[in-house]
Amino acid sequence: MKILIINGPNLNFLGRRDSNIYGTLTLEEINNSISSKGDELGLFVNFFQSNHEGDLIDFIQQNTDEYDGMIMNAGALTHYGLSLADAISDSKIPTIEVHLSNIHSREEFRRRSVIAHLCIGQIAGFGSNGYLMALNYFANLNHRKMK
Ligand code: DQA
Repeated sequence: MKILIINGPNLNFLGRRDSNIYGTLTLEEINNSISSKGDELGLFVNFFQSNHEGDLIDFIQQNTDEYDGMIMNAGALTHYGLSLADAISDSKIPTIEVHLSNIHSREEFRRRSVIAHLCIGQIAGFGSNGYLMALNYFANLNHRKMK
């Protein structure tokens, strides 16, 4: 099973962003832990981060037929990125929305997600563990399918 891990704007700055909200790990450290978990679970994982909505869309389009699942932290695009939402929808790749912080306990504008209705579910507030939880979900799905 092949899974895309996609991070949107400003997530390349993890480690330098407010650690009370986003923790202290860098994106590279988070991706390393996702890689190890992927190996453990027998999943192939591929990573992409961009600060540009169009680049995220290009990447999703280029990989649409290749992947079985997508774990997406769209950063602030979560709240207004309609072109990104369309790309997720068009790709038909089963997607899990992940946020490090609990977007529902922060500013009002973060409570709205324009991608949530396109996703299997949303994991928010568990820090970088959220990515691993999403990976576990796909691994369990795969396991059930193979039985
Ligand atoms: C975020 C939450 C968003 O509201 C914010 O714009 C981010 C990160 C999170 O992981 O908690 O950049 O997606």
